[in-house]
Amino acid sequence: MYRTHNNGALRAEHINETVTLAGWVQKSRDKGFMIWLDLRDRYGITQLIFDEERTPKDVMDLAKTLGREFVIQVTGKVIERESKNAKMATGDVELLVEKLEVLNEAKTPPFTIEDTTDGGEDLRMKYRYLDIRRNPVKEKLIFRHKVSIAVRNYLSEQGFIEVETPYLIKSTPEGARDFVVPSRMNEGQFYALPQSPQTFKQLLMVGGMDKYFQIVKCFRDEDLRADRQPEFTQIDCEMAFVEQEDILNIFEGLTKHLLKEVVGFEIENFPRMTYDEAMAKYGNDKPDIRFGMEFCPLTPKGGTDFGFGVFDNAELVNAINVEGCADYSRKQIDELINWVKRPQIGATGLIWVKYNSDGSLSSSVNKFFDEEYLKHFAEATQSKPGDLILIMAGETYKTRTQLSALRMELATRLGLRKSDEFAPLWVVDFPLLEWDEETERYHAMHHPFTSPKPGQMELLNTNPGDVKANAYDLVLNGNEIGGGSIRIHDKETQSKMFDYLGFSKEEAQAQFGFLMDAFQYGAPPHGGLAFGLDRLVAILGGQETIRDFIAFPKNNAGRDVMIDAPATIDAAQLEELNLKVTI
Ligand code: AMO
Repeated sequence: MYRTHNNGALRAEHINETVTLAGWVQKSRDKGFMIWLDLRDRYGITQLIFDEERTPKDVMDLAKTLGREFVIQVTGKVIERESKNAKMATGDVELLVEKLEVLNEAKTPPFTIEDTTDGGEDLRMKYRYLDIRRNPVKEKLIFRHKVSIAVRNYLSEQGFIEVETPYLIKSTPEGARDFVVPSRMNEGQFYALPQSPQTFKQLLMVGGMDKYFQIVKCFRDEDLRADRQPEFTQIDCEMAFVEQEDILNIFEGLTKHLLKEVVGFEIENFPRMTYDEAMAKYGNDKPDIRFGMEFCPLTPKGGTDFGFGVFDNAELVNAINVEGCADYSRKQIDELINWVKRPQIGATGLIWVKYNSDGSLSSSVNKFFDEEYLKHFAEATQSKPGDLILIMAGETYKTRTQLSALRMELATRLGLRKSDEFAPLWVVDFPLLEWDEETERYHAMHHPFTSPKPGQMELLNTNPGDVKANAYDLVLNGNEIGGGSIRIHDKETQSKMFDYLGFSKEEAQAQFGFLMDAFQYGAPPHGGLAFGLDRLVAILGGQETIRDFIAFPKNNAGRDVMIDAPATIDAAQLEELNLKVTI
């Protein structure tokens, strides 16, 4: 037996017991005649004591040779500590060591295994197994486990069955590129790794499974960001004989359950907002509603124009009220202007109006608007003395998106995005299609299996951009954590949709014939959704970077720097696969 207890277990009640512990040397203090050593494992730290008078000499000598991260096993007597440490669970006791065995030596780690480490991101990724020994990383993985277990239990209790679907499949379009795998046995042919199990879960509904879920890896070859990894995990779900309302209810229930169980946060019903409303109020289809700063479109005072070219030539003049920021200095405001002008945001400028605390109003457009007029803006934005109004004008979509970015930036700077507050909401009635500038075509905004709202199929021919879908997203603290839809379940509509999306009959048949065929054998009405588990866990954990909640994540270039992948493969393997690589 390697140990009788773990390193988080010993308390005053164990005093005088002889125990055996194992773990890693966290640190040691050698006073010559006495050595204190912190022994660590997943469960905690126990202080060991080696004492010239009470510890055998060979053990004492060996203890002096121990370095950081050596793996050791010790046996000894639990004794009461002279100076107790109330901050440590095991802080009342220490172990007076009688026997010591070095189970494995360790090179000095390239960074300190402490809560705050001296290791940079790259180094920690390269030695991720050492990083996992640190509390902040270890705790995030344990937290993820708790969320996964809570999800499994909840869904299972609701009658969902977890079914595994294959990874070596054919392309399932979710808007990203596929990762492909060459087939040795089928020369010149490739599998695609699933961007999601979308088609399989629909086939499970045709198969009568009724309620399916799966905690499943998905693969998407897309540009990476803090909330995106090339392989990530979904809580994927599908239900038969349901309408949108049924799905929203079940998964609102799941989310409430997780908020309560995992972070102790209770909330009434989730607000719902249409996509159009979200765009108009927040310029964003995943608004962070932990704080206000809603958009206030401005209109001319009386008359039909503002008498100011920038506003009059704009499709939209949009403002936000930044509470309590009228005292921003010239420098602070210039900095904000430069911020919105950065290419990532691309705004041409930003106009400000200060509602000064003495009740006077001043602005960057004093030339065009007198105080009386500025008061009109103050009313439109419901500002009060002490507030700062920021205005952007231009083409509707761009202005909204740029102002949305500014709103989020200001909220971050002002500390309004509190990590211990949770503001979920459903965004519903998404457009079915989205215009793609590059290909000059409409694409399915969610995916091609999403059904249009009843009676809207006809609109496809006349106003495709106006067709709304039975599609919904769950948003939490400004992040899209889940999305889904009611699906098309008859061959004819599905085939029309592929037509519409620019697939030839042959292409549609080759790629999705299996699904349309299945629809002919009694497909029930069905729908579902998928949560991004990594995102959900990160947000519940009070963060937005998913990498920390993944045991072995990839870096921004899609590389695993620890195992050094992707990598070239040898000539024999290429030949076997009948692949030629030219670089
Ligand atoms: P969707 O594409 O919206 O829907 O994905 C569902 C959720 O998965 C998460 N997600 C990601 N998380 C980390 N890294 C990524 N690269 C990444 N891409 C997506 C998001 C997102 O909300 N089959 C449909 C679901 C359905 O219709 O039922 C689908 O995959 O949190």
